[in-house]
Amino acid sequence: MIKIAPSILAADFACLRERINQVESAGADIIHCDVMDGHFVPNLTFGPLVIKAARQSTALPVEAHLMIEAPQQYISAFREAGADRIIVHVETCPHLHRVVHQVRETGAGVGVALNPATSLTTVEEILPDINLLLIMTVNPGFGGQSFINTTLKKIHRARQIIAALGKDIWIEVDGGIDNDTASRVVEAGAQILVAGSSIFGKPDPGQACVELRRRALSGKMV
Ligand code: DX5
Ligand code: ZN
Repeated sequence: MIKIAPSILAADFACLRERINQVESAGADIIHCDVMDGHFVPNLTFGPLVIKAARQSTALPVEAHLMIEAPQQYISAFREAGADRIIVHVETCPHLHRVVHQVRETGAGVGVALNPATSLTTVEEILPDINLLLIMTVNPGFGGQSFINTTLKKIHRARQIIAALGKDIWIEVDGGIDNDTASRVVEAGAQILVAGSSIFGKPDPGQACVELRRRALSGKMV
């Protein structure tokens, strides 16, 4: 199954609820929220208050993608704000096992994200404990960047490793996903597609969401 996760980073925050409702009506599966701290990544976005607003605007699952240093200090705040899944970066967690279990104890789903230059070997030991592996297909920090082609092989390798484990772990991709790259990441093994500019950057986000899914599914058939 392919899931589409619109990223609100590209949405008009003056009418966030309306924008979220548009993609929900169009069949989006997850609302993706990009939390940035200006340290781990060179951009600042929002914290738990916006997660809470998203949570109150939709019946869809809300996921918090934490691009922040010391994420362990904020796990309970994001969970209390209503995040159904919390994704932390391996690069920010020297004690990843501890943080993963901290997230699990809150009852939220747990995801681990990898930057493009970070090897899959860094998550090998933690895979059995997580629900989702987020493979960044751009360097995190900004919407609207170009897809990095070399990540396709990584997605494929991740799919093989997860298949060998025999566990249900979602492979999510994030960054530069549009009508052209969607089928390629799905072909490589991605199951959840995060998309900001190619959905909320379009005049009709609902229609863009439907079209992105259609293009993604064409990758599944080849
Ligand atoms: C990138 C963020 C993404 C971002 C994607 O640092 O993690 O979720 O919103 O934006 P697009 O789809 O525009 O590349
Ligand atoms: Zn993201």
